[in-house]
Amino acid sequence: MKKIKSLIEARDRLLGRNLSVAYERPLHIVRGSMQYLHDDEGRRYLDAYNNVAHVGHCHPKVVAAGQQQLELLNTNTRYLSDLILQYSERLSATLPEPLRVCFFVNSGSEANELALRLARAHTKARDLIVLEHAYHGNTTTLIDISPYKHDGPGGEGAPSWVHMSPLPKSEEDAQHVVELAGKLRSQLCGFIAESMPSVAGQIIFPDGYLARVYEAVRKAGGVCIADEVQTGYGRIGTHFWAFEKYGVVPDIVVLGKPIGNGHPIGAVITTRAIADSFANGMEFFSTFGGNNVSCAIGLKVLEVVQEENLQAHAHEVGERLLKGLRELQRRHEIIDDVRGSGLFIGVELTRESTPASIEAARVVNQMRERGILLGTDGPHHNVLKIRPPMPFSQANADELIAALDLSLLAVEDERK
Ligand SMILES: Cc1ncc(COP(=O)(O)O)c(C=O)c1O
Repeated sequence: MKKIKSLIEARDRLLGRNLSVAYERPLHIVRGSMQYLHDDEGRRYLDAYNNVAHVGHCHPKVVAAGQQQLELLNTNTRYLSDLILQYSERLSATLPEPLRVCFFVNSGSEANELALRLARAHTKARDLIVLEHAYHGNTTTLIDISPYKHDGPGGEGAPSWVHMSPLPKSEEDAQHVVELAGKLRSQLCGFIAESMPSVAGQIIFPDGYLARVYEAVRKAGGVCIADEVQTGYGRIGTHFWAFEKYGVVPDIVVLGKPIGNGHPIGAVITTRAIADSFANGMEFFSTFGGNNVSCAIGLKVLEVVQEENLQAHAHEVGERLLKGLRELQRRHEIIDDVRGSGLFIGVELTRESTPASIEAARVVNQMRERGILLGTDGPHHNVLKIRPPMPFSQANADELIAALDLSLLAVEDERK
């Protein structure tokens, strides 16, 4: 406890004060192993939250690939290398044609920034359609296109080139984008959305919505950008990429978080035509993007996802989790909705038709005390977010359900 207190004091003194710390009793995590995290007192926590450690915290094969490459060479894309080519080939093979040209950077934010540059170079236009509550990254421009930030605390609203469309409840809601695109015409650069909006509360689009949106955006001359930073790499179980669920093919796909399993890698994959519009004479260079160590790690993560059949595993475990959560929903009035696909799940809590934000935070803290790590999301922070490292097992799913049952009972008792 003393140690935790001194760490918090030191953070306050040494770091920017708008960093947040999870949980009422913050954790000092010192070790990770697959779907588990260990604190400084040797307690083990089941991680049901950290999607970045996609194939598992410190997966031995990924660690070995990074170590071996670190001992050999780590330099940039101005030298020829097999690794970046093998990685690009293997990565683009997971995507449909004509998504075949890869760019590597160091984060999801950098990847979204680059996606915007590609879209602007290709369309020679600037205006962008974004979705309500979306988050696409931490840079100046990305805050501009992220209503979750620019409409939230400290935000200054959207600039005039950003147009927000509501989160859809039915296919018909595509009409909003259709009308916007029709109005903007040659000013329209494109549309960007997470294929399953995560920050907005683990949302799955209604059937037919994205297809109608993509059609309208393209008709107006814009490009369609899929932010797959949270949803890609088999997490949703039924498909490798979340956009595939809706039968659409984006023009630009943005990747981050899971592809480096914690090592900072971002990537953008696009069509040859868009990549060629961007190749206008100005060199593109990222000092660390596509370096040998990142490529060795990125390649190994992808190999592990495929060799260990993690997509099928996410599907099976996700089905069990969803079933268990729906059973809990029948017994706990506070659970308003259970939604998701594979290991991308949201549990929305409401009380008397209002978002149960305080209760959601209490549940998450209860779960932490029971040794299971969850988070909250959604505009009102009332959606329990379940998106564990992919090795999360059937037994882990049962553990989570049992602990959530007790935590909900405890939170309901607190209110009495
Ligand atoms: C959907 C989405 N896009 C982009 C980003 C930005 O990625 P990064 O934090 O790696 O810059 C995030 C990060 O949370 C995200 O959730």
